[in-house]
Amino acid sequence: MKIGIYPGSFDPVTLGHLDIIIRASRLVDKLIIGVLQNRSKKPVFSTEERVELIERVIASTPELGDNIEVISFDGLLVDFAKKIGATIIVRGLRAITDFEYELQIAQTNHKLYPKVDTVFFTTSVEYSYLSSSTVREVAGFGGDISQFIPESIVHSVYDKFRSIRSD
Ligand code: PNS
Repeated sequence: MKIGIYPGSFDPVTLGHLDIIIRASRLVDKLIIGVLQNRSKKPVFSTEERVELIERVIASTPELGDNIEVISFDGLLVDFAKKIGATIIVRGLRAITDFEYELQIAQTNHKLYPKVDTVFFTTSVEYSYLSSSTVREVAGFGGDISQFIPESIVHSVYDKFRSIRSD
């Protein structure tokens, strides 16, 4: 069985991520979405919230099969890949600026664990500008994020930023 892992911070999950999830889930038998419990950067959404948002998006996306699971992880990605038996790491590439960083990480991961290979998906053009940090920036100022993230989580993401602004 080919197990792939799509790792990321997903703070929060965007339509660009969902596009990769849909396409990658057709490539492998099982796709694990690995949510990093960022120790260095402090995410806006807790690990549990990020996992729950992705699970909700998956449940609300009819074209997805039942071969997807969301699991949080800490530490090295390759250790998590070993633990779950993944041999494919999935990453999205939006632009050449992503490539330099991604190439270095992919090569490091392959050195650390030669059984694992990174497969890159070029982001669909309609999402090539999109990132979680853009969503956080726009939402932080109360802007419209409905065209950036899946409909099923728009209200929760708005609520989170509203509560941050009123703190
Ligand atoms: O969504 P992001 O923040 O671009 O995802 C980055 C991620 C999670 C893929 C990367 O930071 C990661 O794999 N972190 C775990 C630590 C690790 O294994 N680093 C790679 C070796 S340098």
